[in-house]
Amino acid sequence: MASKRAAPSSDLAALRRVFDKAQRIVVLTGAGVSAESGVPTFRGAGGLWRTWQAQDLATPEAFERNPSLVWEFYHYRREVMASKHPNQAHIAIAECEKRLEEQGRRVVVITQNIDELHLRAGSKNIIELHGNLFTTKCLKCRTVEKNYDSPICEALRGKGAPNPDAADARIAIENLPKCKQEGCDGMTRPNVVWFGESLDPDVLEKSHNELNLCDLCLVVGTSSVVYPAAMFAPTVAKRGIPVAEFNIEPTSATQHFGFHFEGQCGSTLPAALAPTESEQHYKKP
Ligand code: OAD
Repeated sequence: MASKRAAPSSDLAALRRVFDKAQRIVVLTGAGVSAESGVPTFRGAGGLWRTWQAQDLATPEAFERNPSLVWEFYHYRREVMASKHPNQAHIAIAECEKRLEEQGRRVVVITQNIDELHLRAGSKNIIELHGNLFTTKCLKCRTVEKNYDSPICEALRGKGAPNPDAADARIAIENLPKCKQEGCDGMTRPNVVWFGESLDPDVLEKSHNELNLCDLCLVVGTSSVVYPAAMFAPTVAKRGIPVAEFNIEPTSATQHFGFHFEGQCGSTLPAALAPTESEQHYKKP
């Protein structure tokens, strides 16, 4: 008879003992880490993919078919972020990185999010797997630029959530966001990874390096259904490295992990990442 896999532990003291010894920690995050900031997730209640179809808004084909509609969607998500702030989970990760760095230990965030809330919380070691809402890529000169303009172009001023069925969704291409490089003026697209596109090979390589070297992995607020991110933590667990999941519910990946902490990560994560007893005696050299 095949042996049954033990259920993941929710013993916080046991995780804290592992955390105390860890030298290289990877924190893999998804939309759930920003949920308590009021940023919608994708698949849960109120999730973006419950209101809209990903194939209408987040594929290269959708952009080719109707760039105006796709820009409306990303413009809307950029504008929404103006009133959102990092929550206790982002802050706990950033503080932990800073604290452990002084002890010669490393914390790296690998995020599927494009909302920059880890950056705004103060994390420095951030790998953005799916790009960034506040960068554009020029389709002509290929320049990737930071862009915090609000609105990103005049034609999108005051536009709210997109309506894929509305006849007025079409803004002429010449009025959509343009490249700012001198003499270019090319059409830009959001610098994010869409369904059907590959991740940036450098970003993937960096992620694999961190995952291969880590001695603790925390998986926070992701449904673990979108590849390749979905296989990162299970692969780490297969190496025998402790993996702890923080989620409001079990996911399809939970069974692979040694720890599962159920609840809002704004509460569970700060408890896990608070200074340990031995850290409190640590003196900066
Ligand atoms: P999902 O919306 O698929 O999953 C969010 C996860 O967060 C779920 O498992 C929730 O249970 C969990 N969650 C919600 N609130 C939480 C909280 N307060 N504390 C802890 N967990 C919470 O989002 P992702 O897994 O990030 O890609 O989705 C992955 C990718 O799919 C996204 O990057 C995006 C999307 O389509 C692209 O657009 C390419």
